Amino acid sequence: MGAFSFLCAIFLVNSCQMQGSSAVTPVFVQKGKDVLLNIMTADVPENLFILSWRFNQKDVLVTFFPDKEPTVSNNYTGRIETDVKKYSLKLKNLQEADNGVYTARVTGSEEERILAEYNVTVQGPVSPVELSVDSSVSSSSDSCNLTVTCRTQDSHISSTFTCDTQTCSPEGGERSEVTTSAASLHVYLLNDSIICNHSNQVSWTEDIKKAKHFCPQHADPDKQDKNVIVPVLVAFTIVLIAVVAAVCYHRKRLK
Ligand SMILES: *[C@@H]1O[C@H](CO)[C@@H](O)[C@H](O)[C@H]1NC(C)=O
Ligand SMILES: *[C@@H]1O[C@H](CO)[C@@H](O)[C@H](O)[C@H]1NC(C)=O
Ligand SMILES: *[C@@H]1O[C@H](CO)[C@@H](O)[C@H](O)[C@H]1NC(C)=O
Repeated sequence: MGAFSFLCAIFLVNSCQMQGSSAVTPVFVQKGKDVLLNIMTADVPENLFILSWRFNQKDVLVTFFPDKEPTVSNNYTGRIETDVKKYSLKLKNLQEADNGVYTARVTGSEEERILAEYNVTVQGPVSPVELSVDSSVSSSSDSCNLTVTCRTQDSHISSTFTCDTQTCSPEGGERSEVTTSAASLHVYLLNDSIICNHSNQVSWTEDIKKAKHFCPQHADPDKQDKNVIVPVLVAFTIVLIAVVAAVCYHRKRLK
């Protein structure tokens, strides 16, 4: 008897946890695009049941019945596609008004259960960015400091980089910022190119500038000099060897 109620308690705790802990999955969708919401079909009970998808706990979007066509809410006619075998819901042409929590719930012979829960966030594409280099690039013989500013419609960040003859590095860390529209603006170096990246969960835009175009020490002339010097040295050495050889040969013959 005691063991039996103990088991029951475990069973209740477990079923409670299963209901409470069904994690809400975040989903980001680009405005105007579709989203497909699934459940694990293995979780669906075999016996008689009704399965429904709700929006923000109240509006019922679609209800699946056994051996019957699913019913779709009038408000969503034409925007919903269902898959009767998978109990999935495809919601089309998402707009900001569709932001919210979508829950698949099974009711029927047994206790009501949540099968899947998604928190859908609809985002527009991010605006373009423009990366500009401040005119006041300060440079000495072996280093160069340049400050760049990256702008979007509603925000901007600045960042300073130091370049020596070999490489560039960010001064005081790379900069990033979250803009008003929940997008982030990020300035960083990649292979000595300065990149400004404006991104949210569904899109990104970028602008790129090559650091060496603005830092003379860091530019190609160094490399070009080396490229010229090496062949000249090689040619000079060959000529020298030839001359020495010719001189030795003549001396031998004269003896
Ligand atoms: C670049 O900035 C660093 C740190 O602020 C400074 O030490 C250095 O002298 C600057 N270089 C030039 C060429 O202005
Ligand atoms: C950066 O350089 C590495 C190695 O030099 C190269 O493999 C990589 O493709 C480069 N990335 C870009 C974005 O140019
Ligand atoms: C810009 O940021 C997004 C999101 O973090 C990333 O997926 C993308 O690859 C980045 N673009 C570049 C050029 O680094």
